[in-house]
Amino acid sequence: MAKLTLSLLAVCSALLAPGTTAANTDNGQWILANEISRVSNQSLVWGPYRPNLYFGVKPRIPKSMIAGLMWSKVDDFASFAQTVRHTCEQSDDMAGYGWDEYDVRTGGHQVIKDPGNSINIHTEFIKIEGGENGEIGPIKTGVGLIIILRTLGGHWGVRVKGIPRPGAPVDLKTMVIFYVGLEGLGSLSLQNEPDERGLAGDVTLEGSMPELGEFKIDITTGPGTNKPPQVGHKKYWKEKPLDRTLYRSLKVPEEDVWKAKDTFFMGLRDNFLKAKEKYGESDLPPPWQVFTIPNTFGPGNFHMVQKVFEGGFEFDILYSSASAPTSMTTDILTEKIRTVGKSFADRFENIFPREPPFNAPRYRQFARNFFSNLLGGIGHFYGTSVIDRTYAPEYEEEDEGFWEEAKAAQARPDAANLEGPTELFTSIPSRPFFPRGFLWDEGFHLLPISDWDMDLTLQIVKSWVSLVDRDGWLPREQILGDEARSKVPQEFQTQYPHYANPPTLFFVLTKFIDHSNHRSLANEYLDKESFDNLFSSGDLPTVHLENPKAASEYLRSIYPNLRRNYFWYRKSQSGEIRGWDRNAYSKKEGYRWRGRTPEHCLTSGLDDYPRARPPHTGELHVDLLSWIGMMTSCIRRIAAAIGEHDDVAEFEQYEYSIKKNLDDLHWNEKHQTYCDATIDDFEESVHVCHKGYISIFPFLLGLMEKDSKKLGKVLDLIADPEELWSNYGLRSLSKKDEYYGTGENYWRGPIWININYLAIQRLMEYGSKEGPHQKQAAELYKELRVNVVENVYKSWKDTGYAWEQYDAETGKGQRTAHFLGWTSLVVKIMNMPEAVSVVATPLKDEL
Ligand SMILES: *[C@@H]1O[C@H](CO)[C@@H](O)[C@H](O)[C@H]1NC(C)=O
Repeated sequence: MAKLTLSLLAVCSALLAPGTTAANTDNGQWILANEISRVSNQSLVWGPYRPNLYFGVKPRIPKSMIAGLMWSKVDDFASFAQTVRHTCEQSDDMAGYGWDEYDVRTGGHQVIKDPGNSINIHTEFIKIEGGENGEIGPIKTGVGLIIILRTLGGHWGVRVKGIPRPGAPVDLKTMVIFYVGLEGLGSLSLQNEPDERGLAGDVTLEGSMPELGEFKIDITTGPGTNKPPQVGHKKYWKEKPLDRTLYRSLKVPEEDVWKAKDTFFMGLRDNFLKAKEKYGESDLPPPWQVFTIPNTFGPGNFHMVQKVFEGGFEFDILYSSASAPTSMTTDILTEKIRTVGKSFADRFENIFPREPPFNAPRYRQFARNFFSNLLGGIGHFYGTSVIDRTYAPEYEEEDEGFWEEAKAAQARPDAANLEGPTELFTSIPSRPFFPRGFLWDEGFHLLPISDWDMDLTLQIVKSWVSLVDRDGWLPREQILGDEARSKVPQEFQTQYPHYANPPTLFFVLTKFIDHSNHRSLANEYLDKESFDNLFSSGDLPTVHLENPKAASEYLRSIYPNLRRNYFWYRKSQSGEIRGWDRNAYSKKEGYRWRGRTPEHCLTSGLDDYPRARPPHTGELHVDLLSWIGMMTSCIRRIAAAIGEHDDVAEFEQYEYSIKKNLDDLHWNEKHQTYCDATIDDFEESVHVCHKGYISIFPFLLGLMEKDSKKLGKVLDLIADPEELWSNYGLRSLSKKDEYYGTGENYWRGPIWININYLAIQRLMEYGSKEGPHQKQAAELYKELRVNVVENVYKSWKDTGYAWEQYDAETGKGQRTAHFLGWTSLVVKIMNMPEAVSVVATPLKDEL
């Protein structure tokens, strides 16, 4: 496990002599809290933060360095262009890929099973603390002077291994490219003697970047078992012996650095044409010789090394920060690979112990794999976004047929423009399909991630929250820069400042407060004991949980943006109650998703779930009111934690009204369920009832009282096999609904793991609270938990993949494969108790 650097530990502890009221000035406290966060943050600088690639590394620094790996077999002229791997693509037909174990702070092991190239590629990535350089301070803290040493991101290394798959030809020839590009800041150059025939021995690049200082990258030749191709064109071999490493440096425009594959192919074409000219069609050297980059040595911001092997191979890429006294070496890498695997396994069993029946050994690899790939989907993105800031009157959506008018307004030339650049640190839903940030998904991703590493979680939340704009709007889909946009059809690129999305980030903030609530956060000083505890545990992932001052500083820092975001939802998505003479406790607490069309409500996250037809300006959405209820309860607790008492009083009122209005506006007596509301032809408010996920939202988001009769009805709906219940999890739409399984059939039946997770969590809570529905909830809990996990497990066993959703009739995984966003919540579900005790024990209301 990553520890705080010794130097910081020693310096700080020495200064806090026993008996002192430690650091009891606001300024000193503030500095300490910040320093501690900063140190924790330092070990998150580097990572495989380009999850759209099979393997790509970058630091969390905009316009800095990006690196990546490409490979292909090279035995054939015709197919080569199709077999070069770089970005994760469904069409590559991998037999599964991803991290078997991975931790953002230490590294892990990934396998990419590539039948098309007859090879399995292993990437073993390791990060280590790398010395210190420079100091900040001395700083006056009120307890004396503190000198804190600064580490600069540390070292990392990756061992790349190719292991031919069973049935591969014995003389399988594979080429591997590793490239490094600089996108603006810094410099990089080759240290070897240039040699037109290629570079013998290890290759070393040296460079510097403003925020990380000087560094070097060694690309090793690897062990003696590595072999170049054993046959080839004799004359050509003299020019370009393949037992060397080929190297090419060139200048690439900053904005094109990410197009590494194109850059590679450009060099290749030159080479191919030259060879053809020289030897002619009839005497052409074989593909493994011709498909090599020309060796060039000019100054440049883009550097490629290429190696060609016969059979299996391995080599290391070692990044050393010059701020450390010693460099990263192959020996250190070997040692770390050994220890990191073990410490990951131990820590995983400790944090996510699997409860029966999932304590059987067969679920072990499943659990580790899902969670590692959730973490492995964390990336750093930077670039411009396409945003429509016209604030056209049509976007108010106040007139009949508003979706037609809005559509016309959206189509106006110049409506959308580039904004930014901005950056985002985020975990993604799926590497091949959705390699970018999604607000709706993120809050679910962070639930398991926060069990593992709360500090990492808080960094991700902060990254999102800092994107809240002046009005309080947070774009729901973050498509930053050309590389991200290259994966999104143009019609889906534009973000609209009147569009909302489920505010799921609040889930994890609620959890953070619950867990750091062991003392009041307001006015808390760091005392000697808590300070010592922090350093003796030394675990970076829990700095903010262990240190109330750091926690409250953190909450204070995000509160203004969160609060603006909260009020933006209330205002921009407000619904009409008074205007339609609706009977409700509060005339304010009713909401309507903007961005509806007759078939869709994409902004709700439940795209094609049936709603009122046609859309109406008088609609009220029960899921949205529930989200705002959840948000209110969370922000109230944040406000309380940091002593914003006026806000607390205001939020309390809203919360009360929202709970009242859920029943007043959305409960339907006839159908005994929660429904959306709309306005009918007689200008009357009526309910639109399509039983499914939407009907159980007040339950899913914890807004129902345990004794409520309505809770019993919700449970009945969940339990009915003719409605939501299946052997594989809860269906998104009731089997009895007229739209069940129709149209796109995206949210009209298929089983989604995020919603099932919420349901299981709530069933556990209600199942452990004494009341009329306790027994039923406890029983459903037990069964649903097993059904959901068993099915996801079976599908993974059968296909090698986690899926976006599961078929409502057969349980089969479908749509996007390698969907390790919220589907990985099964790891948390396995960690929940097998059954809840029917004796009442108050449980914390948390996710
Ligand atoms: C954490 O580090 C990143 C760069 O690696 C930086 O952009 C970010 O602002 C830092 N966050 C905090 C809270 O220090």
